[in-house]
Amino acid sequence: MSTNSKSVPSEQKVTIQTLWSKKKHGEPITFLTAYDFPTAVALDRSGVDGILVGDSLGMVVLGYENTLPVTMQEMLHHCRAVARGVSRAHLVGDMPFMSYQASISDALRNAGSLLQKGGMDAVKLEGGRDRVAAIRAIISAGIPVMGHLGLTPQSVHQLGGWRIQGKSTQAAKILMEDALILEDAGCYAIVLESIPSEVARLISNRLSIPVIGIGAGIGCDGQILVTHDLLGLFDRFTPSFVKKYANLFSEMEQAFQEYIADVKAKRFPAAEHSISMDPQALRDLIREIEVQGFELESDDSQETRYH
Ligand code: KIV
Repeated sequence: MSTNSKSVPSEQKVTIQTLWSKKKHGEPITFLTAYDFPTAVALDRSGVDGILVGDSLGMVVLGYENTLPVTMQEMLHHCRAVARGVSRAHLVGDMPFMSYQASISDALRNAGSLLQKGGMDAVKLEGGRDRVAAIRAIISAGIPVMGHLGLTPQSVHQLGGWRIQGKSTQAAKILMEDALILEDAGCYAIVLESIPSEVARLISNRLSIPVIGIGAGIGCDGQILVTHDLLGLFDRFTPSFVKKYANLFSEMEQAFQEYIADVKAKRFPAAEHSISMDPQALRDLIREIEVQGFELESDDSQETRYH
């Protein structure tokens, strides 16, 4: 049997119960990010389990320095575009900076909006023990919450940059405690970002909810990457844990350069890209407008000439 055979994705909607069942049966869970309709359609067809509309969109789509400027309006705009393209994958909307930190009522209202107006199935938010009250309130409204620990980009200034987390014994212990606290608060899954593989494996083995890793090694229950990193579409920097499966940024640049060269050399549009008029209608037109001084310039590349 070919090892390269493509599996046909099931048409059934992926739910949090599907993800729990995958964890139970030791089946790796696949997540990727999307921010627009065509990527969402391609991901849904590919059979990915979950799609995160991450606030990473601030960096890879909107060109911000970090994720802090991203607003609820921007998140909702992109969530709706993604939701329109997806019928099967589980959809998670990221709660942007300051949409859940200031008050429980903000957290509840904004989480609700991501489902009600954004078409998401669940929300993700960053942080451990400090976020438990918000997490419990959101879950009590019937909204599934995915946690996010380790390198939490919304705390980039507090962390002193994009640094690996949980490296020391003490830091790893705090991380593990936080993971247990999030599970106890009712999170249906957690993301672990940029932490040692050994710590991620210990947490994944200890928790009964799925642990989705990014830069957290092979011992997690599933993996997520930022799709623009995987496709080579974001050229500002690439974290060392990313595997690039394509280099679309350079393909895009090359396509743009070829188009510009074609237009300048009058190779585009060619006859097959042009719309022709019925010859009789054109002859009639020319006869009628000749008196008004219009001239139809013939083009050497055109197959039909009217002079
Ligand atoms: O915003 C995002 O894309 C994320 C992933 C890196 C997990 O939070």
